[in-house]
Amino acid sequence: MKIELIKKELDSNGFAVCHDFLQGQALIDLQTRCDGLLDNTLDSDYKFGKSLRIRNLEENRITNPAISAAFESEILENIKDKAFPDGCGFTEIFITHEFTDEEGLARNGYLHFDRIWTFKYFYYLTDVKNSSDGPLRVVPKSHHLGVRMRSSQVGKPYELQKNRIRIDYPEIYKSIKDEMTPIFGNAGTLIIFDTDTFHMGGIVSNNGERKICRLHMRK
Ligand SMILES: [Fe+2]
Repeated sequence: MKIELIKKELDSNGFAVCHDFLQGQALIDLQTRCDGLLDNTLDSDYKFGKSLRIRNLEENRITNPAISAAFESEILENIKDKAFPDGCGFTEIFITHEFTDEEGLARNGYLHFDRIWTFKYFYYLTDVKNSSDGPLRVVPKSHHLGVRMRSSQVGKPYELQKNRIRIDYPEIYKSIKDEMTPIFGNAGTLIIFDTDTFHMGGIVSNNGERKICRLHMRK
């Protein structure tokens, strides 16, 4: 997928899907390192399985170069520069393995926008081919509305900021629920999105599972 097309889709839809963006050895290296880190982690309190926060991009260049490299290709640097013309001051990497739906809903299991605006590079590490694999779901073009909903609450305490569409904005939910679009893709598929775009994900079912690795970026 060409850089210009990705940028156009981000502006227009709030997200862009780059199928099979990472392939071959680079993908194997990313999967192997993430699996190693997940295996060495005790169960967390993440309701859908395991979730790890492994610090920022810079530190991972030393501790997990296979992971940082997946986020620092020329294309991704170029897109990041466009999203952060004044520089990206904050990065954080997460790895999650979703394999259960028996613990109730985590916050990302509701359609929402993030209360703190974040730009994300989001890799599928396993094939996500069916609804049971917990695909990321997005509402195309909702970032135009999301930015206004988020901005109108700036200054309120974090926990009082309303961001769950179905619960906090039922009228809006009714009008957009049919536009919710699951994103399917092979391991190595990269989803780039702006978190003002309504999104949800990680709800696996029928023994499905999903592993992802994502980079969060903020100003
Ligand atoms: Fe989110």
